[in-house]
Amino acid sequence: MLFVWNDDYKTGITKIDQDHKTLVNLINDLYEAMQDGSGGALLLPIFSALKHYTENHFAEEERYMVEHDAPDQEKHFQEHKLMVAKLADLESRHRKGEAAISLITLSFLRDWLKNHICMIDQEMVLQLKGKDVVQGT
Ligand SMILES: [Fe+2]
Ligand SMILES: [Fe+2]
Repeated sequence: MLFVWNDDYKTGITKIDQDHKTLVNLINDLYEAMQDGSGGALLLPIFSALKHYTENHFAEEERYMVEHDAPDQEKHFQEHKLMVAKLADLESRHRKGEAAISLITLSFLRDWLKNHICMIDQEMVLQLKGKDVVQGT
């Protein structure tokens, strides 16, 4: 397993936590597909699922922030945008055979997601807790 879920990642908002767990699972699925000896045939469909799920999750988080007038939205949206562009670039390069989805790529995705959840998403939830939008868990 490349990415071990840790309860420290929990934000306390059930839907966001469920999405984050799904993203962690998809990164682990990619890691397994890379090692299963099938020549990585499953990599692209799983990668596309990760990209799709990530985009939906970001859109939902952004709706949530707008709805609750969360501070620092622009900074957070920008982070999401950069990641979506990165995933689209990786997918298209892999599709064209220009670059493989490698362990370096997966480690990058894991580290990015871990940092984003622990810093940016947690900060968003803390600020909303301060505004009494989120009840403590
Ligand atoms: Fe986020
Ligand atoms: Fe998130």
